[in-house]
Amino acid sequence: MAARVLIVDDVPANRQLLADLLRRQGYDLDTAATGDDALAAVQQNPPDVILLDVMLPGISGFDVCQRLKSDPATRLIPVVLVTSLSEREDKIRGINAGADDFLTKSVNPHELVARVRSLVRLKRFTDELESADAVIMSLAMTIEARDAYTEDHCHRLAAYATALGVELDLSEEDLSALHRGGYLHDIGKISIPDALLRKPGPLTPEELAIVREHPIIGDRLCGKLRALARVRPIVRHHHERLDGSGYPDRLKGDEIPLLAQIVGIVDIYDALTTDRPYRCAMAPEAAIGVLMDEVARGWRRADLVELFAELCQSGALERLRHTPPSVPLSFSAAAGAL
Ligand SMILES: [Fe+2]
Repeated sequence: MAARVLIVDDVPANRQLLADLLRRQGYDLDTAATGDDALAAVQQNPPDVILLDVMLPGISGFDVCQRLKSDPATRLIPVVLVTSLSEREDKIRGINAGADDFLTKSVNPHELVARVRSLVRLKRFTDELESADAVIMSLAMTIEARDAYTEDHCHRLAAYATALGVELDLSEEDLSALHRGGYLHDIGKISIPDALLRKPGPLTPEELAIVREHPIIGDRLCGKLRALARVRPIVRHHHERLDGSGYPDRLKGDEIPLLAQIVGIVDIYDALTTDRPYRCAMAPEAAIGVLMDEVARGWRRADLVELFAELCQSGALERLRHTPPSVPLSFSAAAGAL
């Protein structure tokens, strides 16, 4: 399928010039004369690359670019700012607005074609990554759907873990990993038979050994996707304990990645505060009490559990619990970082 390029320029002759040039290269084209028209065109039919004039009537090219780059649905569309201004300040403004590339008027045809071609290639690559991630995501939801008692467990985990990450002032990359880790942490359970997952009672030692394989299997599943590199430690280590009594690698103390410790804490909290076949949901305060006991036993970091307890007491967790799941997870931040 031919790539689509959206040309945004208020001067008809400029649009025509760029359109003629790119049409000859086999691209499908769309044009817009104002920033508003450009945003509407992107909504209606998202292009693969946008050539965006900076000086537009109404919303400027910088603002259009900024809006596109702050929306998860459009942030991966490469934007080339076309400007007659070559001052450094404008370039810095463009970079701050999230522009992927710049062209100065009057545009050199060879340069334009080369830039568009390489940005289309990048866009195709990120599209592929997103669909691979979407497959993994669907798998995670399938696992959740197998067990009615864990309904929305993944959504809540993603929300709680991210909230705790925000309190810890973690980077955007870490927050994104926590969000995805909330969904994907138990993806290895795909290998566990339904009869075991739904067993209403204690597991035999053999059954327990099978269930405890899930972090290793999950890690292996995610291993092929570079976009999931930061999520893998969460998948593998969310059942470790500080004293080395966890699984699968019996890591101790700081050997356990922080993000895995966070997901480990919120995983237990959510399991305790949700009805299960063999017991009713615990009150939030009681669940925090269990986590505090685990701190006393040397399994969890006191500062993390205390911070999580504060979130719980503030009512933030309860609000998150009743917030409908957001739009299916966007992996765009990770793809954009490539
Ligand atoms: Fe797990």
